This record gives sequence, structure tokens and C-alpha cells, in this order.
Amino acid sequence: MNEHGKPLTLSERADALEEAMMHELSERIATRSTLFYLAEGKVEMAQGQALLAANPGKHFLMGADPRLPPMPEKPTLIDFFKARFATTAHLLQSATHALKAGQPEKVVLACLLHDIGVASFIRCDHGYWGAQMIEPYVDEEVSWAVRMHQALRFFPDPSVGYEYPELYIKFFGADYKPEPYIVAEYERARNHKWYMTSRLITLNDIYAFDPDAKVHLDDFVDIIGRNFKQPKEGLGFDSSPSAHMWRTLMWPTRFL
Ligand SMILES: [Fe+2]
Ligand SMILES: [Fe+2]
Repeated sequence: MNEHGKPLTLSERADALEEAMMHELSERIATRSTLFYLAEGKVEMAQGQALLAANPGKHFLMGADPRLPPMPEKPTLIDFFKARFATTAHLLQSATHALKAGQPEKVVLACLLHDIGVASFIRCDHGYWGAQMIEPYVDEEVSWAVRMHQALRFFPDPSVGYEYPELYIKFFGADYKPEPYIVAEYERARNHKWYMTSRLITLNDIYAFDPDAKVHLDDFVDIIGRNFKQPKEGLGFDSSPSAHMWRTLMWPTRFL
């Protein structure tokens, strides 16, 4: 019941759950950033003073969130695969497909990382987010290909047998048209020297993969080792232009 003696609405129930989760943290208050609220259709943010008043004697979380799997002091890409990527099956399947097709390691790595934006952060413009995350650590061709798959995914290329995905018709409706910025990006990519690298991501970006296929991250540890420049300080602590993205992923509920 709420304070008016009526059954809790869905959003009141969600608020109560959130509050319970906060109490579970016992020592510290974890905060949800504006983006988390926007995803629920609310233009809101957690108000610091109000949260403190509701949790007397506590301080805000300024580090690891105890509800999430712990990360080592010097995290590697593999640690993020294991502890922060919500799903890795699609990435491993795409990379396995590329590996079996005898593609060069650069392409295999691009397939392995092409959707880390979705798996870790956000769907919207995920190719751009993912490319930005990996840019300081991979060959420029790899991050370029990851960025451009965002646009290329929507455009067929019969010369290599790439069709507009059937699934996109189900996902977005038969009348969906990519926005002008995506069309413009596709046109730029089409004439680029690395076009085919990004196109190969889309060719290996399969949703109808054999469900019995065994895919393991272990199969890619060496390829990652040779092609992803793991910073010795740990991903997030190396002051690269995208280090903050890895830190945010590590500590998504830090107050600041
Ligand atoms: Fe994608
Ligand atoms: Fe994908």
C-alpha cells in the first residue's frame, strides 16, 4: 500500500525496489544517472541532497558497486568480457564465423568487438560507441570498421552476397528507412580503402547461427593478445582518450 492506502502502482513498486536495493548496499548509496531514467521515459535525475536525507549517516558510492561482479585492480579486455558485457554469444559467434572463413586476425578481432557498444553500454549508435572505446588500443582499420558497421548493416552489397537482414524487417518494420546521417556515412564508407573490412563485419554478423556451435572466449585470447594493446595500468587507468568509458563501465553507479 502507498501513503494514500491504495495498492502500489508499477512505478511506486519500482521505486520501492530501488530503495531496497540501495539499502542492501548498507554503507554507501549507489546512484542512477540521468540516462537510466531517460530509458524509462522520465527526464529526471537522482537528487543528491534528497538521497542523503533519505539515507541518514550514509555517503555516496564513489567506487565499485558491490552488486556487480568485482573487477581486478588492473582490468584487461578479457575481464570486461567476463564481468561487464551482458552477453558475449553473438560476438563470439561472429568472430568464430570469421575465423573459420580464414579471415585475417584484424577482421576476426573486429567481429569479436563489433557490438561491445550494445553488450556494455547502449544500443543507439552502438558502432560509434564501440569504436571509440577500442580506438586507442587497436589498429585504426579495426576501429574504423567497427564504427562503419553501424551504417553498412542497413545497406546490401550483392557483390559479396550481403542482403538487408530479414530480421530488421521484423525489428523495425518494412517501411523503416535509415536516417540521413546513416545514409551519408554509408556513402563515405562505400568509397573508403577499408570498406571491405567493415563489410566483412556485416557478412559475419549473423543472427541465425548454429545454436549447438561451441564458442569460447579462450579461442580468441591469443588474437586479442596480438592485436589489442592492453595497457599495463589496466583498461581505464591508462589515461587514453577512452579510459573514462572503461572506468564508467567498471563503476556505473559512482556519484561523480
Ligand atoms: Fe552491430
Ligand atoms: Fe552484430
